[in-house]
Amino acid sequence: MTVQWVKLELDVAAFDAPRFETYVTRCHADGIRLTTLAELGDTPEHRRALYELNKECSADIPGRGEFFSFEEYVERRFEADGYDPRGIVIALDGDDWIGLAATSVHEGFVFNEMTGVRAGHRGRGISIAMKTFGMAFVRERGASTVRTFHHPANANAIAMNRRMGFVDAAAT
Ligand SMILES: CC(C)(COP(=O)(O)OP(=O)(O)OC[C@H]1O[C@@H](n2cnc3c(N)ncnc32)[C@H](O)[C@@H]1OP(=O)(O)O)[C@@H](O)C(=O)NCCC(=O)NCCS
Repeated sequence: MTVQWVKLELDVAAFDAPRFETYVTRCHADGIRLTTLAELGDTPEHRRALYELNKECSADIPGRGEFFSFEEYVERRFEADGYDPRGIVIALDGDDWIGLAATSVHEGFVFNEMTGVRAGHRGRGISIAMKTFGMAFVRERGASTVRTFHHPANANAIAMNRRMGFVDAAAT
């Protein structure tokens, strides 16, 4: 059966930044550091750590199936045209990588490739904090919208995006 993906988009100009900056502040107060792959260093070790974190979180995406091999992941994410390590937000608890919000850049929009938080850290606002933190990069790249799509059964991810102001994308 064909999956009816839930396609969502956020108008960058309308994003209520002050409201969601509170999630970033709360994260920092809780000792969670938000940074980017560019800041940490786009090294082979860090790419592997990002892969492992993405793989772990993706296991909870409804309908996801088997995850990419590391080689496939490198090709799809790091060697793709829209790749920019400044657009890969990472949440750290000490030295532990506990969350990622990965994007790619396209003509006029930024695409949310993957948002994930390790199971033990969910429900603390970390995904919204990471995505809010990443809005500086979205603006820097001059994108007017952020796009994403989800499996219809992924209620948490859809609710998280709607909370931030994402709405159903106009049919194209
Ligand atoms: C989706 C996911 C990233 C959310 O991460 P999180 O850090 O737990 O989310 P937050 O705590 O920031 O929650 C943000 C909002 O999402 C909604 N939400 C999150 N989890 C929810 C749940 N279990 N039930 C209902 N709403 C939920 C709420 O609106 C919440 O806002 P609020 O706390 O102000 O009410 C996390 O569940 C995850 O990693 N899932 C597996 C990977 C995945 O499916 N990723 C998305 C596909 S790319």
